[in-house]
This record gives sequence, C-alpha cells and structure tokens, in this order.
Amino acid sequence: MELFEDDVWQMAWGERAAIEGLLSARRPALAIEVGTAEGASLRRIAAHSAEVHSFDVVLPQLEVPEHVTLHTGDSHVLLPEVLAGFAQEGRNVDFALVDGDHSAEGVRRDVEDLLASSAVRDTVIVTHDTGNELVRSGLDAVDYAAHDKVVHVDLDFVPGHLGRERFGGELWYGLGLIVVDADRPRAGDPVQRDRHHGGELLAVARDALAGAPARAGTSATALDARDERIAALEREVVHHRDLWQALMRSPSWRVTAPLRAAKRLAHRRG
Ligand SMILES: C[S@@+](CC[C@H](N)C(=O)[O-])C[C@H]1O[C@@H](n2cnc3c(N)ncnc32)[C@H](O)[C@@H]1O
Repeated sequence: MELFEDDVWQMAWGERAAIEGLLSARRPALAIEVGTAEGASLRRIAAHSAEVHSFDVVLPQLEVPEHVTLHTGDSHVLLPEVLAGFAQEGRNVDFALVDGDHSAEGVRRDVEDLLASSAVRDTVIVTHDTGNELVRSGLDAVDYAAHDKVVHVDLDFVPGHLGRERFGGELWYGLGLIVVDADRPRAGDPVQRDRHHGGELLAVARDALAGAPARAGTSATALDARDERIAALEREVVHHRDLWQALMRSPSWRVTAPLRAAKRLAHRRG
C-alpha cells in the first residue's frame, strides 16, 4: 500500500490511516495543507480531493497534478490571503491539514487563521505533532470555545510517541482533530477533556525514564547485595551439612551410638 510504503511521509502509520479514513469519508471539494515538505501527505490529500492548495516556506521539488496549487512562502502571510479569496467566492474548505510551522506561536496562528475565516464553516481540520510540547502549547492556547462553529476538538485523536532510538526522549507525532460545523448547534465546551492529555502522560514516562539510571543503579546495587547474601547463606548451609556428615561418619559418634540409644529409651520410659 502506498500509504505505508511512502518513506518521505513524516507521519506514523496510524496517523496516515486516520487521515486516509477522514479523506475518503469526506472526499473534499476543496482542501488545504500547511507544510508540503516532500509531498507525501499532499499525495493522499490530492488523491481524494477535487482541488488542493498546499503551502510551504520552501519551494517543494515536486511535480503536481493540475488540481494541486503550491503556494511558496510563509503560511502566516499566504494562508489568510488565500482564505480571504475563498471567503469572497463563498467557497468552503472541506479539509485542512496543519503541519507547517511547529513553533507554539506558529501553529496557533495557522489554526486561528483557519478558524477566523468564513471559508471554514464545514471543515475537518487535522493538526500534526500534537504530542510535542511546543506544538501542543500553541494548540492549547487557541480559544476554540470562542468560535460557535467549532463543535469538536480532540488533540489526541491519534496519540503521539515518545522517541527511543529515533528522536530519543523527544515527544513527537500525534494527530489532533478539530471539527467545524457552522450549522450544528454546539452543546458546551467543544474540547475533549474527559481523559488525560496523551503528551503529558508521555512526558511523565520520559521524566521517569530520564531518572531511571540513578534508580536502576540503586536497585542493581540492592539486587547485588541480596544475591551476595543468598550466596553467603548457601555457603554456610553447605559448610554445616559437611560438618554434620563428617560427624555422623566419625568413629567417636559410632562408638557412642549405644549410649545415645539407651538415653533415648530411658527418656521415653521416664
Ligand atoms: C513536518 S513538514 C511537513 C510534512 C508533510 N506534511 C508530510 O507529512 O509529508 C513541515 C513543513 O512545514 C514547512 N514550514 C515550516 N514553517 C512554515 C511556515 N511558516 N509557512 C509555510 N511552511 C512552513 C517546512 O518547510 C516543512 O517542509
């Protein structure tokens, strides 16, 4: 499957599958991507959409089909301009992937620019790297409830990872889902708060792992000491067993056997 074989797609397989699922359910007439990079997520968006606009500050080295427009430059400048054009034409953005500027301020601005636009009325917005502390702090700073049209926000739609070999000790990945539907009345807070934030849990795990060498050292010392004590006790048992067997075999023990038997008999009778 191209979805999993694509080695330039900077997303985990679960994230790719989630995006593929959203796209195939939505079949966007108009889609936006912030962060083209090498065009991997763009290929899947383009496969399901009638028209795509993808933004990157770097000019991508890509050949794109006719229904894809590449916008080269800062999304914080270009995205509001393009959205204003769509709004003027009365168009709706059906799908948007935010995976460009990964600074807290940058991701917050991209999401806020989308939410501020009247072209974003009936839209599925997906944000990447929601497990990363910086990205997450930017996304957490967005006042989703201030937009009546935002009906659902789950920033742990697909939870992120704590890197081990690759990006060791760093929190990356994670897909967030923001559902916008101006025609659906919203009940209460749109943000999912019924569970712990996945990134925070991973941060606890990371900090525990970071402290682990010291603790592992302590427990290794404790284990060594315990093993040494067990070995000493085993040596003592062997020593006493040898002594006992030597005593049992000794001539004096055998010579005094009748005396001990008489003593046992007298003890029972008494
Ligand atoms: C993580 S990559 C995108 C990966 C891509 N969505 C994929 O999964 O195949 C992030 C991209 O965002 C671009 N970028 C960073 N800041 C940006 C900005 N302010 N405006 C536009 N693009 C930006 C970078 O040049 C980079 O190519």
